Amino acid sequence: MRGMKYRRREVCLEGGVRLVMESALSARDRVGVQDFLLLENYNSEAAFIENLRRRYREGLIYTYIGSVLVSVNPYRELEIYSKQNMERHRGVNFYEISPHIRDQCILISGESGAGKTEASKKILQYYTHICPTRNNTQTIRERLLQSNPVLEAFGNAKTLRNDNSSRFGKYMDIQFDYKGAPIGGHILNYLLEKSRVAHQNHGERNFHIFYQLLEGGEEPLLKRLCLEKTTPQHHHYLVKGNCPRVSSISDKNGWKIVRNALSIIGFEEEEIQALMEIVASVLHLGNTQFGEDEEGETHVTTEPPVQFLSQLMGVDALVLKEALTHRKIVAKGEEMISPLSLEQALSARDSMAKAIYGRAFTWLVQKLNQSLAFKDEVYYSSKCSSVIGLLDIYGFEVFQHNSFEQFCINYCNEKLQQLFIELTLKSEQEEYEAEGIVWERVEYFNNKVICELVEEKHKGIIALLDEECLRRGDASDITFLEKLEDTLVGHAHFVTHKMANGKVRKAIGREEFRLLHYAGEVNYNVNGFLDKNNDLLYRHLKEVLCQSDNPVVSQCFHEEELMDQRRPESAVTQFKLSLAKLMDILMSKEPSYVRCIKPNDGKQPGRFDDVLVRHQVKYLGLLENLRVRRAGFAYRRNYEAFLERYKSLCPDTWPNWHGELADGVATLVKHLNFKPEEYKLGRSKIFIRFPRTLFMTEDALQAQKQSIAVTLQTSWRGYRERVKYIQIRHAVIAIQSWWRGVKGRRKARHRRQAADTIRRFIKGFILRNEPRFPDNQYFLDHVRFSFLMKIKRNLPKSVLDKSWPNPPPSLLEASELIRSLCTRNLVNDYCRRIQPEWKKQLEQKVVASEIFKAQKESYPQSVPKLFVASRLETEEINLKVLQTLGHDNKYGIAVTKYDRHGFRARVRQLLLTASSAVLVQEAKIKQRIDYGTLLGISVSSLSDGFFILHVPTADSKQKGDLVLQCDHVIEVVTKLAVMAEKMHNVNISQDSIRFAVARGKEGVIDFIRGSDLRVVKSKNQPTHLMNQRQHPSHEQMI
Ligand SMILES: Nc1ncnc2c1ncn2[C@@H]1O[C@H](COP(=O)(O)OP(=O)(O)O)[C@@H](O)[C@H]1O
Ligand SMILES: [Mg+2]
Repeated sequence: MRGMKYRRREVCLEGGVRLVMESALSARDRVGVQDFLLLENYNSEAAFIENLRRRYREGLIYTYIGSVLVSVNPYRELEIYSKQNMERHRGVNFYEISPHIRDQCILISGESGAGKTEASKKILQYYTHICPTRNNTQTIRERLLQSNPVLEAFGNAKTLRNDNSSRFGKYMDIQFDYKGAPIGGHILNYLLEKSRVAHQNHGERNFHIFYQLLEGGEEPLLKRLCLEKTTPQHHHYLVKGNCPRVSSISDKNGWKIVRNALSIIGFEEEEIQALMEIVASVLHLGNTQFGEDEEGETHVTTEPPVQFLSQLMGVDALVLKEALTHRKIVAKGEEMISPLSLEQALSARDSMAKAIYGRAFTWLVQKLNQSLAFKDEVYYSSKCSSVIGLLDIYGFEVFQHNSFEQFCINYCNEKLQQLFIELTLKSEQEEYEAEGIVWERVEYFNNKVICELVEEKHKGIIALLDEECLRRGDASDITFLEKLEDTLVGHAHFVTHKMANGKVRKAIGREEFRLLHYAGEVNYNVNGFLDKNNDLLYRHLKEVLCQSDNPVVSQCFHEEELMDQRRPESAVTQFKLSLAKLMDILMSKEPSYVRCIKPNDGKQPGRFDDVLVRHQVKYLGLLENLRVRRAGFAYRRNYEAFLERYKSLCPDTWPNWHGELADGVATLVKHLNFKPEEYKLGRSKIFIRFPRTLFMTEDALQAQKQSIAVTLQTSWRGYRERVKYIQIRHAVIAIQSWWRGVKGRRKARHRRQAADTIRRFIKGFILRNEPRFPDNQYFLDHVRFSFLMKIKRNLPKSVLDKSWPNPPPSLLEASELIRSLCTRNLVNDYCRRIQPEWKKQLEQKVVASEIFKAQKESYPQSVPKLFVASRLETEEINLKVLQTLGHDNKYGIAVTKYDRHGFRARVRQLLLTASSAVLVQEAKIKQRIDYGTLLGISVSSLSDGFFILHVPTADSKQKGDLVLQCDHVIEVVTKLAVMAEKMHNVNISQDSIRFAVARGKEGVIDFIRGSDLRVVKSKNQPTHLMNQRQHPSHEQMI
């Protein structure tokens, strides 16, 4: 409801569409002023009413006076309660809602038919729609909404003022959790107008439920209840007002709604059945008639209703009849039964009907409360939850004939008006004083005096009524009236026929008293006051009801009640006490007011009755209310709350103000450029005179919020990222240190291993010459390994490469083995790769080496010179010789042959064949020596070219040993030795060689070292000796 005022001021969050809607709405709202505070001529009643009228004509039924909402009943459906529209009021601006120190409550007042109940329903709808829901709050929300039709069916009725008039007071608490979702509810009910059950004024009806049941009840149900469909006129309790049907009410539809609501709320079928049995019982009770027999004894004249009743209530019909016509009196411990007069029986019947219905209604409210109760008490009691109370109570009522009920109802309204005065007008002015603010005092009518007239102890009307009820003897309604006259004589607000004079006297009946209520004068007829206040139900009837097997009745009537001897509180005192409690509740909360105004008496849409409205405006004190507000300030808030909300608008107060609160507010206000007439600073509060000043401030805040949000966001994000970063850093460090640990440990292990290895190595080195055992095996292995590796790296590449690593002592043997292996390998390799000629060459060279090495001086020079296949070309040899030899020639060389006689030198050729050595002169074969006959070969150890072939002299064919000389003596001798296989028969002489000459003679060749080569025949021994000089240092002698 509060939101309605400030819908224009909502911050637009959803962009353009919403803006358009907003502006359309506010354009409509510009009819008149939407807040009376903005009214130019605020002292004029006419201007006030004109504003209401103009707005009413446009369908704008709500107008504010500051925080009080004035509502004028439109008597037609408006389209302002759509869900869409409700959405717009979500997020009401804060400044209408005070800080939630206290719970809130909404007080709806206004006379009967002004629209209080409708307003309360709209508020409930608004809250249940607008508030967020949790899954489990969905049912609570439904139940809250559905509690209304049920209560209205049983507690509302058509009156002359209102077709749906509440005949009971209702205060409903809606509980919200910390998120604002409705989580429960609780209903307090006040004084149901029970008299209506048995009697209705002309043009009025009984409670809706009776008609609904008859109109809408399903056939089987009605049958069970012994009722017939659509027969209100057959029921005595429904015909008193002579108004069974009302055009604005569809009872049939009403039944469906109630039936459905009962199920949603969670009533069980048996309970609904029992409840309907009670409703039906009341109807049957109404149809029960009595008569007097000749002896004047009262008896029941209508059998069927009693039978139905006994059937429905589960009590014996006879017992019931007896109880309806007799009363039990306990006197001096003895129980006596005395018959009732016809009148008493009728009254007893009616009081039974009222009692059953009244208690069933209370039971119904209890059931509703059970179903609405928030189950989780712990949760509810937590500070996070909040409560909004909603008071919809019967409005001020004036009829032609006003009775006890109107007295109570109007007293209640008097109390509410008092509360309103206390909380708005009075407290407002007191606040200015307390805050030391200069203001203009506004006079207003304080209805306290009327409240006291009614409720004062001993002297008040209620006290006097109770006193009269208790008085034994001839106490009656008339004696009560007299008592009032005696006691209240001269009271400004109390008049009776007797007390008044002239015109007034005429207007007051003899059995009436008049109260001058704040809302107007009301005449109350005292008839029935005592009875209604006593609210007596004969003991006899109570006993019967206690025996009932209807589950609801048995819950409503207890045996203990019968035992209790104390007199129960009178009806009006109960009402007074419950009202006092209600006032305490309301006082403890922060109330918001909805003041309902009835535009006309005819329930007509669009008709605005000036007189009627003016009257209401007056008694509701709306003008005073406005004047007080205008004299003062539109808005006030204690410094702390104000600063807390707006501090962000001034750099000096944002984010925190550390000095005095008052100084902070002053700084803030100065920064906001408030004009001096716009505000005042009180002792603890700031007062802002015009709403627009506040609006501007609020708008600025809304704009600022954006940037605050960004700042908060950035710092929050920064914080979050920092936290994340620190976490990551920690993680990184942890991983790093772990990894470093691993690495470190690994390194340490390596070092240790290395140290161990070195130690083992050194130990092994020291013990290297010991036999292999664990202490030195590592070293030895290492030595072996490294030596082998060394060998591997330095293996000789060729046969001639004699290099070889020095082996350690322990591997001498192995080294040698490897070396020889290696050499063999190389040789093998070499051999495999060698050419046949070269092989031959080498074989011959080997033979030469074997024969001549270190034996003959010229050998070393011969080594590098290669042996050749032959020193003679084939052409150089005579063809004839070749033919003779059969081309068996392997080797040929030119030689000098020294004769055996005379040692003359002759040029010859020496040819070597496969089987013999042949000496050739031109074409003549001079001498042939078969290898088999060759005895040996002799050469000197010097550098000469002599070689002698020894042959056997006994053979006559042989001419003796051959003395030859050539340039390639080593080559020739080697080849010959190889061919003749005489390698071991080569004789190398140091100084002389003896040789055989034919016929047993012997020659000698002496070799003498000299500077050149000469062959000299010895003179001393002419036949035997030859001297020969070779080279400079050699001399050879033959
Ligand atoms: N806001 C409203 N919109 C439409 N009709 C309304 C509105 N308020 C009241 N009425 C009409 O006025 C009648 C009486 O209203 P109600 O709230 O029962 O009065 P009260 O509770 O003050 O006695 C309702 O039945 C309804 O027809
Ligand atoms: Mg009502």
